Order: sequence, then C-alpha cells, then structure tokens
Amino acid sequence: MLGDVLGRAGRKIAKKIIPQFKQSLDIDFVTINGENLAGGFGITSKIYDEMKLSGVDAFTMGNHWRDKSDVHLIRQQHKDLVLPQNLNGISGVEYAPEFHLPHRNKTINIINLMGNFAMKEEYKNPFEFLQKEKEHFISKVKSGSNIVIADIHAEASSEKQAMAWYYDGILAALIGTHTHTPTSDERLTENGTAFLTDVGMTGPYDSVIGMNKTRVLTKFINPSVKLPHEVAENDLWLCGFLVEVSPQTNLSLACHRIQCRGVDEENWLISSIV
Ligand SMILES: [Fe+2]
Ligand SMILES: [Fe+2]
Repeated sequence: MLGDVLGRAGRKIAKKIIPQFKQSLDIDFVTINGENLAGGFGITSKIYDEMKLSGVDAFTMGNHWRDKSDVHLIRQQHKDLVLPQNLNGISGVEYAPEFHLPHRNKTINIINLMGNFAMKEEYKNPFEFLQKEKEHFISKVKSGSNIVIADIHAEASSEKQAMAWYYDGILAALIGTHTHTPTSDERLTENGTAFLTDVGMTGPYDSVIGMNKTRVLTKFINPSVKLPHEVAENDLWLCGFLVEVSPQTNLSLACHRIQCRGVDEENWLISSIV
C-alpha cells in the first residue's frame, strides 16, 4: 500500500518502484491512494491507465476524489477505483469491493472510509459502516476466503487508531492516509492486524504537504490573496506499508513501514529500501 501519490513527481516514483516491488518481493496485490495523482487534485483517465500499466491493482481515494470529472467515467468502467464507503449522496459506494487472487484462492475486500474531523465536507459516520459490516467481515475472514484491508482517510490520528482497534483481529491491515505526513508507529497487534496511523505521501517533501511552500506561506500570511496552489517537485520520498498475510488466518504475520527519503528518481534501486 502506498500513501497519497502526489502529482507528476509522485507518479514517477510509484511507476518506477511498483514493478520492481512486485517482481523482487513476489507481491500479490498493490494499492495506492490516488486522490492526489493529477496535479495534487483527483485522478484522470490517462493517469488511471498509466498507473494500471505500472502494476497498481486497486486505487483508494479520499476527500479529493471528485476534483477531476474523469473520476465518474473511471468508476463506471473500472471497479478497482475504490471510493470511500461513507460518502454522502453517492450511490454504489456502500460496500467494500472484492478483488480475487485466483492463484492464492483468496479474495481481498478493500475498506476505504473518510474521517470527519477537520474536513470541508461532512461524511457519514465511518463507525456506523464498520458496526453494520462487522459480523459480515468476521465470518468472511474466519471462513478462510477473505482478507480485509482498510485505507482510513482522516486528519485525526484518534479516528484512525480507534478504527484500527475496533477491527483488531478482523483486518489484515489498516493504513491511515490524508495528512501527507508519515508516522512511525507501525505495529502488528496480538490479534494479527498490521497498523500504521499515517503512511505519508509519495511525492515531493520540499513543500507544505506536497504544494509549493512559497505559495502556501503567502496564502497563510495574506488569507485574502487568491493564488492557486502549485505542486512542488523536489525532495521525493516514497512512503508505503508492506504486509505479509497468513493464508491460514487471513491476518498478518509481519509488516514493514517503507520510507525512502530523497529518492534519486533516475537511479532508483529497490535495494536502497529493502
Ligand atoms: Fe491526499
Ligand atoms: Fe485527503
């Protein structure tokens, strides 16, 4: 799972690393948070195609999910674009979609939920979704057929951590996204849930959460100034979370936080992080 992949620079690193990861580490399934792929805001059809070619199996989203209108067409055509299940007034998002891994005889469910703290829009209470689906997911995991993973897209660490504990022993993995700032609290609980409060952004860190720092500062200092954001380009970091799942329990055996700072995108080698 890679955190919010941001703009051209983020895409470039992700496209380079994902095929290497899949090949060298025998990775079955790659998800990325795709809400910032297109210049920091949303996703386009062209970018969706590019990322699929690099080996992305599924995309999760967040508050920027509809910043580009292409998203409506993409979601009609492809079920691997996962939208948060607690969006208000959007039909067809209410269930965590299933992805089949035939060679492992497994199905992966992806939960993607929005937190409500400090968001511009209001979302349905994510805990209501989790409460409603809890028994369903417990039986799927226990039956041996399904692995359940979650991307919780939220500003508040408290919301993300509470959700992880609520689904402890049900989820193979939960990663937090949205803040674009990685935390270093990765853990594997006694009950087999791998968890990281925020995986961070894959993109330019010579910035304020991915955006040109001079422009952001100007806007903070002079709030009346109308100045569009501009994506930053320098100091690229790759941030992700690698999870090893037991075929017996459908829960995790190990997890690794991946954080590579100052990626030289021309001379990138998987050996530099693993
Ligand atoms: Fe984001
Ligand atoms: Fe976000």
